[in-house]
Amino acid sequence: MTTAKTTDGPHKGDGPNRSGGNQPDGAALHLALLIEEGRGEWHARRIVRALQACGAKVTVSSLPHCAFDTGLESGIDIPGFAGRLPDGVFVRSISAGTLEQITFRLGLLHALRESGVRVWNDARVIERCVDKSQTTFLLHRAGIPTPRTRVVETEVHAREYTQDLDRTLVLKPLFGSQGKGIGLIHSESELPPGPAVDHMYYMQDYVAPNDGLFEDWRVLATRRRIVAAMTRQGTTWVTNIHQGGKARALVPDGEMAAISMAAMRAIDADYAGIDLIRTPSGQLQVLEVNSNPAWRGLQTVADINIAEAIAHDFLITVNAHRAAVR
Ligand SMILES: Nc1ncnc2c1ncn2[C@@H]1O[C@H](COP(=O)(O)OP(=O)(O)O)[C@@H](O)[C@H]1O
Ligand SMILES: [Mg+2]
Repeated sequence: MTTAKTTDGPHKGDGPNRSGGNQPDGAALHLALLIEEGRGEWHARRIVRALQACGAKVTVSSLPHCAFDTGLESGIDIPGFAGRLPDGVFVRSISAGTLEQITFRLGLLHALRESGVRVWNDARVIERCVDKSQTTFLLHRAGIPTPRTRVVETEVHAREYTQDLDRTLVLKPLFGSQGKGIGLIHSESELPPGPAVDHMYYMQDYVAPNDGLFEDWRVLATRRRIVAAMTRQGTTWVTNIHQGGKARALVPDGEMAAISMAAMRAIDADYAGIDLIRTPSGQLQVLEVNSNPAWRGLQTVADINIAEAIAHDFLITVNAHRAAVR
């Protein structure tokens, strides 16, 4: 691959997993890995290495370089595939862009699925996770505990909801990640004006820390298994690693594993990062589901080679899909 530029730091379980002879066979496959250009090389390199170790041919590209083209039989042009369709597509990022660009890229991913290509994660899953209100709704509909949340357009409606507020709310950007741009609202007067939040107000009940400890959990799972997990402790209530949260290895107990896999099913994700928190009354709740989770922080504490585990499960799914449609 040509995108491998960044240097590697040591990571705990970053060597080969001891999967013995159980490695899935990728020999007949030509796969596409779609990343955000100029970013994400750390993850990409590890996924590519793991897929290649199984015999697969992998071409790394970015959605902004793909095209719809009616001059091609497939109608879809992915760099490196000469108008043919890949055997599977692994999406690390749909890349930043305008509303039109994002719509076009999601359209490409929808088109790949509709053309019979197995896409990890599929456009539907990305849509459900990028928009936090969809995730929250689907968790709620599936009966999965998640903090009470109301999502409204416009400041007027946000003010209606926060009038005489008797509890603390978390205000999150609808498309946020890495703990960026989130804040606490204690009263209506603290609501930011509409333009500051793109006129979208995602307002979620704040889960107070237990014994003053700012802690939540990140579980990384594929459709087939829990891959790795960590406890995150913050010096503030926002525990994301990007906000200075510290990671500790965690072996999820049965309750955490069950709620994480239920959240995966609610979103229908192939792989995802699930954020969990515990309320002062002891209930485990899902904060969010991330459809293109980073695992660099998690890898520093995980015993397993995360990229390899994900790549293997991807290959198993692609092979099963190809066998089914043949
Ligand atoms: N309702 C909440 N109650 C308490 N803490 C929260 C709540 N929502 C988010 N947080 C804190 O903020 C972090 C980021 O929120 P999250 O919903 O995961 O968004 P992001 O996509 O930015 O990671 C969480 O990991 C947690 O530490
Ligand atoms: Mg999160």
